[in-house]
Amino acid sequence: MKRLFVLASTIAMTLGSGGAHAVDAAAADALVRKSKCLTCHHQTKEKDGPAFAETAKKYRDKPEAMEKLTKHVTVPSKVKVDGAEEDHETLRTDDPAAVKNVVEWILSL
Ligand code: HEC
Repeated sequence: MKRLFVLASTIAMTLGSGGAHAVDAAAADALVRKSKCLTCHHQTKEKDGPAFAETAKKYRDKPEAMEKLTKHVTVPSKVKVDGAEEDHETLRTDDPAAVKNVVEWILSL
């Protein structure tokens, strides 16, 4: 009985830490590169735009994080860079799963 319990906990732990919901960091990185996001963003350093790690911190534990960020990276908007308005790039893909992967990747940084 005890052995069975240990086995069940091990499986639960394995599933809990990633498993089905793992972020594909390489794919996310490739897509933000292709979409020119990195001209204004860096994973950890502030450039013209906030570091993705800062965004992750800002949205951590916010229930609206996925929705807000998905909109931000798919709907064209204007941002201020050095006082001038510039177009905010959107992700160059039509695949919602790829967009979701990028947003989850940003939030995981
Ligand atoms: C022209 C420079 C520029 C480009 C290119 C750019 N961004 Fe941004 N981004 C900004 C600036 C500036 C802000 C801050 C805007 C603000 O706080 O109003 C921002 C904000 C963000 C945020 C945080 C939004 C929030 O609500 O806190 C995310 C996430 C983001 N950008 C992702 C991306 C992605 C993904 C791409 C590529 C598709 C991209 N950005 C391309 C300049 C840029």
